[in-house]
Amino acid sequence: MIYGATGFTGRLIAAQAVTAGLRPILAGRNPKAVQTLSRNLELPWRAFDLGDEKAPHSLADIDLVLNCAGPFSHTAPHLGQLCVRSKTHYVDIGGELQGLEALQALHQQAQSSQVALVGAAGLAVLPTDCMTRMLLPGLPDASRLTVAIQYSDHPEASLLGSILRALLGMKHGIMVGPGSVATALESLRNRPVLRQDSHLCQVPWASRLLQRPIFRHGPALGVIFPWGDVICAAHSHGIPNVEAYLAVHRWELMAMKCLNLVQPLLRPKILEWLLQRAARHQYAVHFHEGARSTFWIRLENTTGKGVQGRMTHTPSSALAGYDLTVYGSLAVVKHMLEKEIPGGFTTGAGVTGSDIWRSIPGLQWHGEEPAHRL
Ligand SMILES: NC(=O)c1ccc[n+]([C@@H]2O[C@H](COP(=O)([O-])OP(=O)(O)OC[C@H]3O[C@@H](n4cnc5c(N)ncnc54)[C@H](OP(=O)(O)O)[C@@H]3O)[C@@H](O)[C@H]2O)c1
Repeated sequence: MIYGATGFTGRLIAAQAVTAGLRPILAGRNPKAVQTLSRNLELPWRAFDLGDEKAPHSLADIDLVLNCAGPFSHTAPHLGQLCVRSKTHYVDIGGELQGLEALQALHQQAQSSQVALVGAAGLAVLPTDCMTRMLLPGLPDASRLTVAIQYSDHPEASLLGSILRALLGMKHGIMVGPGSVATALESLRNRPVLRQDSHLCQVPWASRLLQRPIFRHGPALGVIFPWGDVICAAHSHGIPNVEAYLAVHRWELMAMKCLNLVQPLLRPKILEWLLQRAARHQYAVHFHEGARSTFWIRLENTTGKGVQGRMTHTPSSALAGYDLTVYGSLAVVKHMLEKEIPGGFTTGAGVTGSDIWRSIPGLQWHGEEPAHRL
């Protein structure tokens, strides 16, 4: 089953699933939208709200749900719980800390029910998790993980700019789907989180930078960002210190600094109003042709010895990062449908192994790099 199939990413995944020879049941909370989509793709459908009394019944005969309905802070806790109860494997494409924490909280229950709860099987964690698994054997006593992601290396690409454009009702130059705008707005209520001595700590926006240039083209400044590795790397490998960064332009860094000042004024009602305003302005998601995404990690032990490496993703279609999420999540799902999977909270590469990156068109591993101190 694909839940949230009618969203921007859900539709891409549903269409590619059909191309790959799968016949998922399409599902979502809006019966009309699900029915129309299922008619176009000639697939069966089901509609249910996650809080609905009938929701458990809708999952009773399902082997696996791929959750594309975000923000995942809203959907992962409910759908994760429903899956544990109905003994249905769960996979999502999120990367939000609240969604991952909710799944992690169900770990023991999922283990005893032999249900796999797989978080972040998309762009946000899959490549960095694969690299962590590939590099860890070279530094098994690693106590620090640093992750950095550049969403696009086009000089004009800007994640923050895209979100602002969507919120201002502009229709062009936006390279993220509506769900990512909603998720970004949700995260404005919080602060970036890092892991320090096994504890999660909130820090102010733009309070930590990657001083050394990691990215050669496009936005190159690394600024602290709440990527899901902060949860996943600690859960899977017990790494006690994890920091994650996003590549931004200098103006985006200044905007993040200002965010610290306006954040206390951002009441839920204001965020809700901004969201509704953005949702009204339907826009076409636009990507810069040929732009690549870069994923970089460094592992370090307490003596300062390090290993590091990078992957790049050159999309095979005009969908940029979404292409990685579509192929990555479906590769994880295909593996889970074919193999016996142990129960518990894990990641995409946690169930498939680090070689999963080879199934994603355009994703390239550049091998271990000479390590340098940050
Ligand atoms: N990490 C990654 O690799 C990655 C990549 C792409 C997207 N994403 C994430 O995926 C999510 C979806 O993005 P998108 O652009 O596809 O969003 P979208 O076009 O807005 O679609 C969201 C879908 O989720 C459904 N939904 C939202 N809240 C729900 C709830 N509480 N209960 C049930 N269904 C709900 C929506 O249903 P309605 O139409 O009824 O509202 C819609 O079908 C976002 O959180 C985004 O950040 C992550």
